Amino acid sequence: METIINVSHLKKTYMKRKQKEVITAVDDISFQIGKGEIVGLLGPNGAGKTTTIKMICGLLKPDQGVITINGINNAKHRLKALQHISAVLEGNRNLYWRLTVRENLEYFAGNRGQSKKAVTNRIESLLNTFRLKDKEHELVNRLSRGMQQKLAIAVAMLANTDVILLDEPTLGLDVETSYEVRTILKEIVEKEQCTIIISSHDMDVIQSVCERTIIINNGKMITNERVDRLLTLFEVRAYTVTLGQPLTEAQQMAIESAFSSYDYITNQIKPMINIELPSPEHIYQLFDILKQEQTPVESIDRNTINFEEIFMKIVKEGYNHGNHTSVSSELA
Ligand SMILES: Nc1ncnc2c1ncn2[C@@H]1O[C@H](COP(=O)(O)OP(=O)(O)OP(=O)(O)O)[C@@H](O)[C@H]1O
Ligand SMILES: [Mg+2]
Repeated sequence: METIINVSHLKKTYMKRKQKEVITAVDDISFQIGKGEIVGLLGPNGAGKTTTIKMICGLLKPDQGVITINGINNAKHRLKALQHISAVLEGNRNLYWRLTVRENLEYFAGNRGQSKKAVTNRIESLLNTFRLKDKEHELVNRLSRGMQQKLAIAVAMLANTDVILLDEPTLGLDVETSYEVRTILKEIVEKEQCTIIISSHDMDVIQSVCERTIIINNGKMITNERVDRLLTLFEVRAYTVTLGQPLTEAQQMAIESAFSSYDYITNQIKPMINIELPSPEHIYQLFDILKQEQTPVESIDRNTINFEEIFMKIVKEGYNHGNHTSVSSELA
């Protein structure tokens, strides 16, 4: 896959004015984005997502590191590099409040010097994609926050740039609108050839829209992995084993020393073991311990783990925890 964005050893610090304290917002982050990919930048509040996005779109200057867009260094050839990018930044809907939805689209299209005919068709199609057709003559300041957000994304799409950066596209939207925005983003990804980077701490956005996720925490990149791979990697490892009789103390000790993540539950009708296996084959090791006392096994359930739990685990324990080695995958 052809690389469209290359971020190499990016670093950004801020100076807290009063305390004279230095905050490292982005700490040696490197990644690549392939053409046509849709990648989620995921991380808790303050992780460095917005700072990273702003550096990619040239609004902030990195302390260290190089960003190239389509091979163009965005520090050396800022304007040329930025021609390939449009962005919707957090909380900043770059719209004219006293113009209507359609007027905004026409205005921004005019700004990019596109032909009238091409623009008319494109605007029509965007109004439909973003479910804004019935609001086309409404003033922007009368739109709901969700509609404004959709319009802001539509305006960004209008430019037909190779890359679109969306910082927190569903922030502050209600469940329904957030769902709608996700659906629209998915449609866009299927229909259009563009590359999209979405920063978010909304797991649903990452899980349902993105192919790959870059997880950052405290300014450091901790995961760069396909979303489906993360789901399978983590899913197979957690099991609940229901037993026909309680474990002996010796068995409990043996399991405890063999497995780092283990819970023995005795306050249910049947005793149960919640266990995470470093790899699926480790189940035999557990069986060996159960066999010592002929402990009957009544059921084994593989626990489903949702993306939110995976994220929490990665942020808390790091991605290399246990046997989750084969980390940062290359572009597929
Ligand atoms: N202008 C600034 N001056 C000083 N510190 C800043 C500034 N902007 C961001 N920071 C700090 O840099 C770190 C990263 O902030 P950033 O906004 O990039 O995080 P984020 O991942 O986008 O968080 P959120 O999920 O809350 O949007 C935080 O510790 C933040 O307090
Ligand atoms: Mg942010």
